[in-house]
Amino acid sequence: MVKIAIMGHGTVGSGVVEVLTTHVSSITKRANEEIRIQYILDLRDFPDSPLADRFTKSFDVILNDPEILVVVEVMGGLHPAYDYVKQCLESGKSVVTSNKELVAAKGAELLRIAQEKNVNFLFEASVGGGIPIIRPMSQCLAANDVIEVAGILNGTTNFILTKMINEDMSFEDALALAQKLGYAERNPAADIEGHDACRKICILASLAYGKHVYPDQVHTEGITNITLSDVKYADAWGGVIKLIGQVSKTSDGRLQSIVCPMLIPRDSQLANVDDVFNGIMVRGDATGDVVFYGKGAGKLPTASAVVADVIDCVKHLKARKYLFWEDGSKEYVADYLDNEVAMYIRFKAANPDELCRAAEKEFGEITRLLRRDAEPDEAAIITPVLAEREIRAKLPALEAQGAEILNTIRLSDF
Ligand code: HSE
Repeated sequence: MVKIAIMGHGTVGSGVVEVLTTHVSSITKRANEEIRIQYILDLRDFPDSPLADRFTKSFDVILNDPEILVVVEVMGGLHPAYDYVKQCLESGKSVVTSNKELVAAKGAELLRIAQEKNVNFLFEASVGGGIPIIRPMSQCLAANDVIEVAGILNGTTNFILTKMINEDMSFEDALALAQKLGYAERNPAADIEGHDACRKICILASLAYGKHVYPDQVHTEGITNITLSDVKYADAWGGVIKLIGQVSKTSDGRLQSIVCPMLIPRDSQLANVDDVFNGIMVRGDATGDVVFYGKGAGKLPTASAVVADVIDCVKHLKARKYLFWEDGSKEYVADYLDNEVAMYIRFKAANPDELCRAAEKEFGEITRLLRRDAEPDEAAIITPVLAEREIRAKLPALEAQGAEILNTIRLSDF
């Protein structure tokens, strides 16, 4: 029998308990050991839980019990999760976490400690909820040079955008529903402002390229300024708007990485990833495009990934698993303004036709998008592919001629 502790009894933590206690015989078979939940750490009381006697409010009880070999961290947030996980690894316990904030900020350091102590630090659930992505990228795709990773990495924002596109639901109603269904972060600003997707692309980038990418190195925009007007122009263009996390290698060996809403053509593999689903495209030099698809948030999908890692730890108590990347560096991620993109620009003007002609003079060839029921004083155009810095430098000239820029959205190249 292997004894484990679970730190946190929120949405994911209670899901982990549920999966472990309802699949006892199959999990025991797969792990070759019975897995016993010895402690559940939470500051709240759960007197009605069938495991009420295992709850503790003291982290030290877990840390100081030498029989606990695997600790599951599903508290979320950086503190105290970071201190607890670090202490567990240092004391020779393997750790499984779903905490993307922790892995994105401290992954390299915690992986190094795990390596020194010959224990495991696994985090399949930190990206893509129930979708297997960490293990496939680090094992099955290991023979590839990764050219690019691009994905819909946040279930809440994808759910909101889908409701806006398909059901004309307001942003607020869709967010409230996502929270009710248990998809959103405790503070949903992390979802709608893109920080959650940013943490996830940092983890995938670190894994794909072997060196830590930190959240403050990735330019991040959320979906709060996407309107139904943009959604309809995207439809007229032939696609949809999705919040994308993306990373690729530049010709000088650095990385280019961004999180932002993008216009995705309808025939892209990511265009039909709707609702709470996530889709992650990994472009390998040998495999070509491989796409991972599934539920990216929610209690049981995420718990499934956590428990799979626990089984892996229990099966490999004396062996180190495959995960590792080194510390990052300041210059490693290139300035997003140097990236070449085509840009959707929506603006308001007294005479939109005149402004479109002015835009043509500034940018060269442009495509004007036309849609039914457009506001008479609005227009939307697509620029040619240029360095983003160059595109932004031309906007003041349009403003000087009376344009009020309402939104700019990058076009995807996948
Ligand atoms: N809030 C996250 C999401 C949960 O909506 O994707 C899963 O990481």
